[in-house]
Amino acid sequence: VPRRRIAIDGPAGTGKSTLARTLAERLGGAYLDTGAMYRVATLQVLRAGIDPEDAAAVIATSADLPMEIGTDAGSERILLAGEDVSDEIRTARVTAGVSAVSAVPEVRANLVGLQRRLASGGGTVVLEGRDIGTVVLPDAEVKVYLTASPEIRARRRTEQDRAAGRDADYDEVLAAVIERDRKDSTRAASPLRPAEDAIVIDTSDLTLDEVLDRLVALAEGAD
Ligand code: C5P
Repeated sequence: VPRRRIAIDGPAGTGKSTLARTLAERLGGAYLDTGAMYRVATLQVLRAGIDPEDAAAVIATSADLPMEIGTDAGSERILLAGEDVSDEIRTARVTAGVSAVSAVPEVRANLVGLQRRLASGGGTVVLEGRDIGTVVLPDAEVKVYLTASPEIRARRRTEQDRAAGRDADYDEVLAAVIERDRKDSTRAASPLRPAEDAIVIDTSDLTLDEVLDRLVALAEGAD
């Protein structure tokens, strides 16, 4: 089976997760949500009563993360010490702490190693995150960077949260989206930015299906 590694990066609310998962299903490949891994590390830190800004304590707490993450598109469950935390890692409390935890280079080194191992199996793999094309898989066969205006991303996130039964206020979500983008793109370690050779797609005025069609075409063109 030829190797086809697809890197999908971009900020929150671009439809990245849905698109990456659906693309993997379409192509019969594996799917890895790397943001979920940073969220699990953050949950572990918060449960230990540690301030996400306290880098030394964050490193100590997340060094041996008993995390399991599935790569079957559509049925991935995320476990922390055997407990299914797939829903808890999406709460506003975890979202508010994740940028600080993911800015710690030691945390990144640990998770990037795991991501590369999970992506090394051969066949088609779709990895989704912030630094896949720049750091995790710099020689991926396909690199895409998704963007959209902050207002559109906040609206999508608000709808997504409400659909999942979480309280969401548009203005608060917008402020959180802007703040998380700022932190993720200005940090020293692996800041959020498109790889030089990434194809940038602005999804503001596109439906998910329209973006998906473009991704499928790009993936098939890479064979
Ligand atoms: O994609 P998601 O919104 O779940 O990502 C949560 C956070 O994890 C991001 O805001 C970012 O701080 C961090 N992250 C990262 N590198 C990745 C994926 C996510 O730093 N590859």
